[in-house]
Amino acid sequence: MSEKKPIRKAVFPVAGLGTRFLPATKAIPKELLPIVDRPLIQYAVDEAREAGIEQMIFVTGRGKTAIVEHFDVAYELESTMSERGKSLDVLEATRATPGDIITVRQQVPLGLGHAIWCARAIVGDEPFAIMLPDELMVGTPGCMKQMVDAYNEVGGNLISVLEVPREEVSSYGVIDPGAVSGALTEVLGLVEKPPVDQAPSNKIISGRYILQPDVMRTLENQGKGAGGEIQLTDAMARMIGHQPFHAVTFNGRRFDCGSKAGFVEATLALALEREDMGEEVRRIAERLLKR
Ligand code: G1P
Repeated sequence: MSEKKPIRKAVFPVAGLGTRFLPATKAIPKELLPIVDRPLIQYAVDEAREAGIEQMIFVTGRGKTAIVEHFDVAYELESTMSERGKSLDVLEATRATPGDIITVRQQVPLGLGHAIWCARAIVGDEPFAIMLPDELMVGTPGCMKQMVDAYNEVGGNLISVLEVPREEVSSYGVIDPGAVSGALTEVLGLVEKPPVDQAPSNKIISGRYILQPDVMRTLENQGKGAGGEIQLTDAMARMIGHQPFHAVTFNGRRFDCGSKAGFVEATLALALEREDMGEEVRRIAERLLKR
């Protein structure tokens, strides 16, 4: 394979309506719901930055502009805080380098594959990352860094995977696994939301991807798949055999913040680990559990 191009861009599909969290998400994008005191999107952007990614491409929709505001400079807030002698450190990660946050719109919700395709002009002709902010990945290093490290070894296309109980596979993209070497598994096939008895394994795609730009051309003329949506998984499946395709088993923890129970789990887990509040939250949790 020729020299590997670095991964400089990440696409964040954030156009979803967030109906599972209504009424909280009526006026607030679900990506801005906080786990303790950081919005979900912030965790994903920080994870991308840790992996050396510079350009964040948000595929947004109507009612989602607050996500972009979050990464802007807040003059009024900052000057008021400064006048009051408050530290601005807490806002550090929310400041983007000028030009590093780019948005495109997905006008109609036709599926994840369609959302990614909407970013094709900005992605251009280089490999890129995809991050689904619903999936909160906690690890050292972070999930995308682990994937970029793997990409630097094998190149091609990579997806992060993890194992779930067999009865849960129908909610996810599932891989047909081939040869295993350390954290890397060869991907022989991919299927989106299969019935449990037809799933090729219990290894599911967990919301992090590094893909070659060819996926955009594959998506271009792709029909609807599972759930009547244009599926990214279907486009990736068509690339297998033509390009290297590997799965990376993430060494870390994953919280499914697209579900309410997962969101509460993430909140509790991260609060318990915080130096400034962990002890207090532990006492509260123990008291509540005794009831
Ligand atoms: C999407 C992908 C699926 C993946 C999942 C991870 O599904 O299509 O392959 O396993 O994200 O969260 P969605 O959750 O959008 O239905």
